[in-house]
Amino acid sequence: MIPPQQIGWSWIEVAGAEVQIRRLLPADAALYREIRLEALTLVPEAFSSTFAAESVEPLSWFAARLDRAVVFGAVADGDLLGIAGFFAKQGRKEAHKGALWGMYVRPNARQRGVGRRLVEAVIYHARRHVELLQLSVVSGNEPARRLYAELGFVEYGIEKNALQEDGRYWDEILMAKPLSPDEITR
Ligand SMILES: CC(C)(COP(=O)(O)OP(=O)(O)OC[C@H]1O[C@@H](n2cnc3c(N)ncnc32)[C@H](O)[C@@H]1OP(=O)(O)O)[C@@H](O)C(=O)NCCC(=O)NCCS
Repeated sequence: MIPPQQIGWSWIEVAGAEVQIRRLLPADAALYREIRLEALTLVPEAFSSTFAAESVEPLSWFAARLDRAVVFGAVADGDLLGIAGFFAKQGRKEAHKGALWGMYVRPNARQRGVGRRLVEAVIYHARRHVELLQLSVVSGNEPARRLYAELGFVEYGIEKNALQEDGRYWDEILMAKPLSPDEITR
C-alpha cells in the first residue's frame, strides 16, 4: 500500500472525530480565507501579515495562493480546524532552505494533536524539497515554541523588533530543523 503521506493525506482521530490532514487546493479557497482571516483577527501578533491587508482581497486571491503555495489543512466534517504552510526560498544560493509559515489551529481544536500533525505534514513535504526548514515565532508564544522544539526545531537566534505595528514591537525567535533525506519516512 502507498503510505498515505505520499499521496498527500493522512487521517488522525481527534476527540473521536476523524480529521484529514491534506494539502489544500484552490477549491478550498473559501474555507481557507475564513480560517486565515480568523487567525489574523484573533492572534495578529503571531503573523507578519494583517487582517487589513488580506480581508480586502477577493476569493480568487486566496485560490491563487493555494495554487502556487503549499498549504496543509486539518479538515473535519468539511471544516478546517487548522492550517500550516511551506515555501522553498527563491534563488540558487538559498533554494536548499525552506520555511514553515501561517501556522494556526482554531481555539476549540487546540491541545489535541492537530498542530503537531500539521507541522509533521510540512516536515514530511519539506524533506523532499529542501535541506533545512526554518521558521520564526514571536517571543512569548510558548505553545508554538514548545511544539516546534518537540519536533526537532532548534533556536538559532532572535530578531529584535522583527514585527512592528502602531508603534508596538515584537521580537521573533528564529528556529530551524535540518532535514535528512535518509530519514524520509519520518
Ligand atoms: C501553537 C498552536 C499551533 C498549537 O496547536 P495545537 O493543535 O494546540 O498543538 P498540539 O495539540 O498538537 O500540541 C503539540 C505540542 O505543542 C505544545 N503545546 C500546545 N499547546 C500548548 C499550550 N497551551 N501550552 C504549552 N505547550 C503547548 C506542547 O508541547 C504539545 O505537546 P504535548 O501535547 O505533548 O504537551 C496553536 O496554539 C495556535 O494556533 N496558536 C495560535 C497561532 C500561533 O501561535 N501560531 C504559531 C505562529 S509561529
